[in-house]
Amino acid sequence: MAEPEATSYAARSATGLYRTTPLRGAWQHPPYFHDGSAATLEEVVAIYDRRQGLGLTSGERSDLTEYLKSL
Ligand code: HEM
Repeated sequence: MAEPEATSYAARSATGLYRTTPLRGAWQHPPYFHDGSAATLEEVVAIYDRRQGLGLTSGERSDLTEYLKSL
Protein backbone atom coordinates (compact mmCIF):
# COMPACT_ATOMS: atom_id res chain seq x y z
CA MET A 1 0.00 0.00 0.00
CA ALA A 2 2.99 2.30 -0.40
CA GLU A 3 2.21 5.62 -2.02
CA PRO A 4 4.50 6.29 -4.97
CA GLU A 5 5.72 9.88 -4.49
CA ALA A 6 5.74 10.97 -8.13
CA THR A 7 2.41 9.67 -9.38
CA SER A 8 0.24 10.09 -6.31
CA TYR A 9 -3.37 9.05 -6.84
CA ALA A 10 -4.46 11.91 -4.59
CA ALA A 11 -2.58 14.49 -6.67
CA ARG A 12 -4.31 13.25 -9.83
CA SER A 13 -7.82 13.16 -8.36
CA ALA A 14 -10.35 15.95 -8.96
CA THR A 15 -10.30 17.12 -5.34
CA GLY A 16 -6.60 16.50 -4.66
CA LEU A 17 -7.69 14.18 -1.88
CA TYR A 18 -8.11 10.45 -1.52
CA ARG A 19 -11.64 9.24 -1.93
CA THR A 20 -11.87 6.28 0.40
CA THR A 21 -14.22 3.75 -1.12
CA PRO A 22 -17.40 3.26 0.92
CA LEU A 23 -17.56 -0.21 2.44
CA ARG A 24 -21.12 -0.68 1.24
CA GLY A 25 -21.04 -3.01 -1.74
CA ALA A 26 -17.25 -3.36 -1.45
CA TRP A 27 -17.61 -7.15 -1.89
CA GLN A 28 -18.69 -6.46 -5.47
CA HIS A 29 -15.50 -4.73 -6.57
CA PRO A 30 -12.21 -6.35 -5.68
CA PRO A 31 -9.28 -5.80 -5.63
CA TYR A 32 -9.01 -3.53 -2.57
CA PHE A 33 -7.01 -0.47 -1.48
CA HIS A 34 -5.95 2.25 -3.88
CA ASP A 35 -3.25 0.04 -5.37
CA GLY A 36 -5.33 -3.12 -5.53
CA SER A 37 -2.91 -4.80 -3.14
CA ALA A 38 -5.57 -6.99 -1.48
CA ALA A 39 -7.31 -9.42 -3.83
CA THR A 40 -10.08 -10.41 -1.42
CA LEU A 41 -11.85 -9.11 1.70
CA GLU A 42 -10.22 -12.00 3.60
CA GLU A 43 -6.89 -10.46 2.64
CA VAL A 44 -8.01 -6.95 3.68
CA VAL A 45 -8.89 -8.25 7.14
CA ALA A 46 -5.63 -10.22 7.39
CA ILE A 47 -3.65 -7.10 6.42
CA TYR A 48 -5.35 -4.94 9.09
CA ASP A 49 -4.89 -7.73 11.63
CA ARG A 50 -1.15 -7.89 10.93
CA ARG A 51 -0.49 -4.19 10.46
CA GLN A 52 -2.46 -2.99 13.49
CA GLY A 53 -1.46 -5.98 15.64
CA LEU A 54 -5.13 -6.72 16.35
CA GLY A 55 -4.51 -10.34 17.32
CA LEU A 56 -7.82 -11.55 15.87
CA THR A 57 -8.61 -15.27 16.04
CA SER A 58 -9.38 -17.01 12.76
CA GLY A 59 -13.06 -17.05 13.83
CA GLU A 60 -12.99 -13.29 14.41
CA ARG A 61 -11.28 -12.67 11.06
CA SER A 62 -13.91 -14.77 9.34
CA ASP A 63 -16.80 -13.05 11.21
CA LEU A 64 -15.44 -9.62 10.19
CA THR A 65 -15.02 -10.75 6.59
CA GLU A 66 -18.58 -12.07 6.48
CA TYR A 67 -19.80 -8.77 7.96
CA LEU A 68 -18.01 -6.81 5.24
CA LYS A 69 -19.63 -9.08 2.64
CA SER A 70 -23.06 -8.24 4.10
CA LEU A 71 -22.71 -4.47 3.58
C1 HEM B 1 -10.44 -3.92 11.00
C2 HEM B 1 -10.84 -2.69 10.74
C3 HEM B 1 -11.01 -2.20 9.33
C4 HEM B 1 -11.61 -2.83 8.26
C5 HEM B 1 -12.28 -4.19 8.23
C6 HEM B 1 -11.48 -1.93 7.12
C7 HEM B 1 -11.92 -2.21 5.84
C8 HEM B 1 -11.47 -1.57 4.71
C9 HEM B 1 -11.68 -2.01 3.34
C10 HEM B 1 -12.50 -3.24 2.90
C11 HEM B 1 -11.05 -1.12 2.55
C12 HEM B 1 -10.92 -1.21 1.01
C13 HEM B 1 -11.98 -0.39 0.31
C14 HEM B 1 -11.80 -0.53 -1.19
O1 HEM B 1 -10.65 -0.58 -1.68
O2 HEM B 1 -12.81 -0.63 -1.90
C15 HEM B 1 -10.45 -0.11 3.38
C16 HEM B 1 -9.71 0.97 2.93
C17 HEM B 1 -9.30 2.01 3.71
N1 HEM B 1 -9.43 2.12 5.07
FE1 HEM B 1 -10.10 0.66 6.28
N2 HEM B 1 -10.83 -0.79 7.51
C18 HEM B 1 -10.53 -0.91 8.86
C19 HEM B 1 -9.86 0.02 9.63
C20 HEM B 1 -9.48 1.27 9.21
C21 HEM B 1 -8.96 2.32 10.06
C22 HEM B 1 -8.79 2.19 11.58
C23 HEM B 1 -8.70 3.38 9.24
C24 HEM B 1 -8.20 4.75 9.56
C25 HEM B 1 -7.78 5.14 10.75
C26 HEM B 1 -9.01 2.99 7.89
C27 HEM B 1 -8.85 3.78 6.76
C28 HEM B 1 -8.91 3.31 5.47
C29 HEM B 1 -8.41 4.04 4.31
C30 HEM B 1 -7.76 5.42 4.31
C31 HEM B 1 -8.64 3.21 3.21
C32 HEM B 1 -8.25 3.47 1.77
C33 HEM B 1 -6.84 2.93 1.64
C34 HEM B 1 -6.39 2.77 0.20
O3 HEM B 1 -7.16 3.05 -0.72
O4 HEM B 1 -5.26 2.32 0.01
N3 HEM B 1 -9.49 1.70 7.90
N4 HEM B 1 -10.72 -0.41 4.70
